[in-house]
Amino acid sequence: MPRTAKVPEVPFIGALSRDAGPLSRQLAQAMRDAVARGDLKPGEALPSTRALATALGVARGTVVEAFEQLIAEGFLESQQGAGTQVAAALAWEPERETRSPARPMPGDAAQLPAAARAYASIAREFTALPQVPFAVSVPAGAAAPGDEWRRLGNRLRAGGGAAPSGYGDPQGALPLRVAIADYLRRSRSVRCDASQVVITTGTQQGLFLACQVLLDRDDTVWVENPAYRGITAILESTGTRERIARVPVDEEGIDVDAGIAMAPQARAAFVTPSHQYPLGMPLSMGRRRALVHWAETHQAWVVEDDYDSELRYAGHPFPSLQGLAPERVVYLGTFSKILYPSLRLGYAVVPDGLVDAFVGARVLMDRHPPVADQHVLAAFIAEGHLDRHIRRVRGVHAERRACVIAAIGRHIPKDLAWLQPSDQGMHLVLWLAPGIDDRQVVAQAAEAGVSLRAVSPTYAGGSGPAGLVLGFGGFTDQQIEDAAGKLAQAIRSCRAPQP
Ligand SMILES: Cc1ncc(COP(=O)(O)O)c(C=O)c1O
Repeated sequence: MPRTAKVPEVPFIGALSRDAGPLSRQLAQAMRDAVARGDLKPGEALPSTRALATALGVARGTVVEAFEQLIAEGFLESQQGAGTQVAAALAWEPERETRSPARPMPGDAAQLPAAARAYASIAREFTALPQVPFAVSVPAGAAAPGDEWRRLGNRLRAGGGAAPSGYGDPQGALPLRVAIADYLRRSRSVRCDASQVVITTGTQQGLFLACQVLLDRDDTVWVENPAYRGITAILESTGTRERIARVPVDEEGIDVDAGIAMAPQARAAFVTPSHQYPLGMPLSMGRRRALVHWAETHQAWVVEDDYDSELRYAGHPFPSLQGLAPERVVYLGTFSKILYPSLRLGYAVVPDGLVDAFVGARVLMDRHPPVADQHVLAAFIAEGHLDRHIRRVRGVHAERRACVIAAIGRHIPKDLAWLQPSDQGMHLVLWLAPGIDDRQVVAQAAEAGVSLRAVSPTYAGGSGPAGLVLGFGGFTDQQIEDAAGKLAQAIRSCRAPQP
C-alpha cells in the first residue's frame, strides 16, 4: 500500500488569501501573530516545510521563504537534523513579554488592512539590535561629542535659539541650514546654498520624503542589488514590488548599462555612491558620469544616500555625485554616524524646484525636527567643532575597525569566511563559505549574545550570497575578541557536515 504523508493540523494559521499579497509574507505574519497570542510556544517544534505546505495547500518554497524570514528575525530557530522550532529565547525576552501580549489584537491579523500588516512586519524587521558586537552604528564613547556639545546646549537652552519657542520653520532652522550648506560645499563638493537644504530627522526620513515627492504610483525606480533595507522596505510598503528594478552592483558600483537595459524610463535611481551599502565599493567616475547622463537625458532623479562618507580611512572622502548634476540629484546626509544616531538629525539638499514639495511633505509628516537640537548643532558646526570632531571620530573608528579585522583573522579561517575589502564607514562585510546560511548564523550568534545582520536579505527577493554585516563602533578590544570567538563557533555550527 502506498504511504501517504501525515498532514498536520495548523489551526494557528488562519486562511491565506491569494489576493492579499505574497503568501510567504502572510504566512510569516500569521506565525508571528500565533507566537504573540501564545498559540505557538517558545521551543515548540513546527511541522516540516513539506508537511506544512501540504496542509496549507501552498508551494513548499512559500513555506521555506517564510521560515527563513522568521529565522532571520529570531522568531524561529533551526538545527541540523532537529527541524525548526519557535525560538527558545522568546521565553525570556522581557520586552516581548511586557509589550506584545498587551497589544490589542483586532480579531484575525489577516483581517487587518494590507498596509497595517506590511508596516507591522517592518516594525519587527527594524527592531534595534542589542548594542553588543557587531551591531552597526553604535557610537564609540571615545568619539562622543563631549564637553563643547554640553556647553553649547546649556548656553543655548538658557536663552539662545534653543530656548522653548513656538512652531519652527518646517524647512529647518536657518542657522543650521547655513552651517550645513557651508560644510557640504567645502567638504563634499556639494553645490548648494541654505535655501536648498531641508533638515530631516535622518536619512531614513530623507528617503521617505524623496519617495513621497518624486514618485507617482506607476513609476519604476532603480535600486541597487544589494541595497539598504531602509529604501527597499519603503518602496515595498508604498508601491508595487514589481516596479522596483534591482540593478546589479559590481566592483565599480551600480551597473548603469544594466539599469538602462532593465528600465530605461525609470523615474529615479536610489544609490549609495560613496560607499555602496552593504558591500562597500565607491561608484567609479565612469559610472558616475553614465548615471548622471542617463538622469539628465531621461528627466530622471538620482537620490544620493551619502550615509557615511566622512569616515574614509584611506585617502580623502569621495566628492559627492550631486556636484556633477545639482539639478537632477537629491543629496541625503546624516549626523547619525559622525555624531550619534539618537540625535535624529540629517538633511536633504534638493534642486530649487523641489524645495517647496519637500517642505510640504515634511510638514504633513512631523512639521519639523526639534528646534533646540538644531540650534545646538548649528553652533557646533559654525564654531568649528564638527571638523575637529570628525577627525577624532575617524581615528577612533579606524582603530576599532583594525581591532575587528585582527580578531576575525585570529578566530575565523579563510575557508569558512573572509572579509570584503573596503576602506570606509562603520561596518565590514564578512562573506560566508558556500553552504552556510547567513540567517541561521545570525540566529545562532544572537543566542550567544552576538548582534549581526545577514547580507542575503539585502538582495532582491531576499536571496543572495551569504554574508554578515559587522559593525565595529563602540566596543572594547575584549568584547570584540569574545564576540569573534563566539561568531566563529556559530559559523562552524551552521556549516553542513563535510563529506
Ligand atoms: C545606507 C544607509 N542609509 C541610510 C541610513 C539611515 O540613517 P539615519 O540614521 O540617518 O536615518 C543608514 C543607517 O545605517 C544606512 O546604512
